[in-house]
Amino acid sequence: MAIPKSVVFDSGKLRILDQTLLPGTEVYLECTSVEQVVRAISNLSVRGAPAIGIAAAYGLILGLEHSSLDSTALQQEIRDRAVRLKATRPTAVNLCWAVDRVLVVAERFYDQNADTTVSEEERYGARLARALRQAADSIFDEDRKACRLIGENGRHLIRQRPRVLTHCNAGSLAVSELGTALAPIYLAHQQGVPVHVYVDETRPLLQGSRLTAFELGRQGVDCTLISDNMAAHVMSLGQVDLVIVGADRVAANGDTANKIGTLNLAILCDHFNIPFYVACPCSTIDLGTDTGSQIEIEERAPEEVRQVLGRPSAPVDVAVFNPAFDVTPAALITGLITEKGIIKGPNAEKLKLLI
Ligand code: MRU
Repeated sequence: MAIPKSVVFDSGKLRILDQTLLPGTEVYLECTSVEQVVRAISNLSVRGAPAIGIAAAYGLILGLEHSSLDSTALQQEIRDRAVRLKATRPTAVNLCWAVDRVLVVAERFYDQNADTTVSEEERYGARLARALRQAADSIFDEDRKACRLIGENGRHLIRQRPRVLTHCNAGSLAVSELGTALAPIYLAHQQGVPVHVYVDETRPLLQGSRLTAFELGRQGVDCTLISDNMAAHVMSLGQVDLVIVGADRVAANGDTANKIGTLNLAILCDHFNIPFYVACPCSTIDLGTDTGSQIEIEERAPEEVRQVLGRPSAPVDVAVFNPAFDVTPAALITGLITEKGIIKGPNAEKLKLLI
């Protein structure tokens, strides 16, 4: 059975799959305003670094076509939207990267067309919307191609080591389609490799159990759900050949921010001598951030930890620390699986050559 698309843009409307309701309910939010997109990204209706970049890129365009604002006011509106969208989630670099790519097109369009006559002015919004739509569509298409190549570049790892553990969700739901960490798994599975995936539940918001187990099931990939604190035990039993996770931002030296709990796994892999791979498109590599210590880590509401799926699981006033991501040092990463190939032992020199 097909996995529903995370983001669909059609006829000027952005449809965002509400991932907070998965696996039970498949509902799309129909977004016609940037406020709705900001909300959908903030509350994780759409999540996963590439998917939020794509959603934000389309969010910049909503309603422009029929806008009655003049070129200067419209340009200011786009700049304001960019600021609001970028502020939603600070760790995933794909968000800023995608918004900035569309913004550059908007600025260029404005420079070339701002002094239009009054009659041309009427068509400004529609022409601008078309130009920006092209930019957002390219981001979507490039992500699709990158995910496919990540899958192709990584699938031989699965052939050799078919029992894979993954954390959070870096699958189809987190990108345009197919995924990053799950892409090599899907391609190996399609080729008849007997893949078995251990899925970390991924507290506090359960992206592993709600999303990864859901999409692996849809694709008929064999999987076993474990809670996060079981990973060491499963590894100690010799049942994990390989770990593959996604990334929200890879610093220039290879240090990688990903869902909280990823660092635990990297340390465990080091202990048990299990290869630890990070799969990501090059758009997740941020040469402007030197090391992992400079990556801003998003902190989320305490209720996410005091509750499980909206029900209290702790005293209502207990103090909580809720960082959404952690940083794995490059030294613990066996390799980065990218659309341009696998970078073994990522470091500043190798990443500079790659980008
Ligand atoms: O908070 P989330 O669900 O957006 O976190 C997602 C992750 O940590 C993913 O591993 C990462 O964004 C890569 S998605 C291809």
